[in-house]
Amino acid sequence: MNAVTFNNVEHIYNEKSPFEIKSLNGVDLQIKKGEIFFICGNTGSGKSTLIKLINRLLIAKTGSIKVLEFDMNTIKKPFELRKKVGMIFQYPDNQIFETRVKKELIYGPEKFGMSKREALVKIKESCVLAGLDYEGFKNRNPFELSGGEKRKVAICSILAYDPEIIIFDEPTAGLDNSSILSLKKMFFKLKEKGKTIIAVSHNIDFISECCDKICLLSGGKVIFSGDFVDTMMRFTNKELEVFGVEKPFIYRLLEKIKFKDKDDFKEKIKNIENLFNV
Ligand SMILES: Nc1ncnc2c1ncn2[C@@H]1O[C@H](COP(=O)(O)OP(=O)(O)OP(=O)(O)O)[C@@H](O)[C@H]1O
Ligand SMILES: [Mg+2]
Repeated sequence: MNAVTFNNVEHIYNEKSPFEIKSLNGVDLQIKKGEIFFICGNTGSGKSTLIKLINRLLIAKTGSIKVLEFDMNTIKKPFELRKKVGMIFQYPDNQIFETRVKKELIYGPEKFGMSKREALVKIKESCVLAGLDYEGFKNRNPFELSGGEKRKVAICSILAYDPEIIIFDEPTAGLDNSSILSLKKMFFKLKEKGKTIIAVSHNIDFISECCDKICLLSGGKVIFSGDFVDTMMRFTNKELEVFGVEKPFIYRLLEKIKFKDKDDFKEKIKNIENLFNV
């Protein structure tokens, strides 16, 4: 069952003006429910545009987009869609707007109809998932937090209303290693809960450790989409450069030592720990 389907989608910024830019040019894409799906591509390739079309922050010029039960060509008001599709922005400063963390976190749940009590339960669950100490932070001003703390608040503010699809734009940017590890664990927990995760990232080692499927975007087109391991085995490092990524360290290492058994490679490559059983 698909969570997201794009058919021949085109998007244009500033149409019919001297500043017109075709940002997406015939995108076809399918994302299944419950997947951790990564979108990769060079800067300006259209990644942020693509994910903004999923929760209708932008509207496509042509083509069809289906997200869960919603058809973007016929949807009247995106309220119900936004309840089910949450997006964590590339820069938390573009997302947060309240003066207290607790107000920031309760805004979404209340807007989408939860009672205060229900919202508080969800907020606390989200804080545990994202590793934010709710009691310690609830009275702080989100704009006065560190970059990593702001990002956690931004994540919790979305998780708190329990959307089915959660979209992350560059979630590892500015995070230290231990925060990236926590993020990876959070992705797995969200997947266990049946959520669909869609993320834009250039951090290939992070992608490699939690990705089910990947799509490679260039010049506003999806050039390839498929299983992560298959994709890494199909393209050379040189070919991947076009998409702003390189093969994860572990793939390069195994290629160097000429580890060729394809099925076993797939099995072992999933994480570094498995390698010790080679
Ligand atoms: N608000 C906007 N107005 C006009 N053009 C825009 C706007 N936002 C993006 N673009 C243009 O659309 C194209 C795709 O931009 P987009 O932000 O989707 O790329 P991206 O792949 O997310 O890049 P990055 O990796 O730098 O975040 C680029 O050429 C960009 O200059
Ligand atoms: Mg972007």
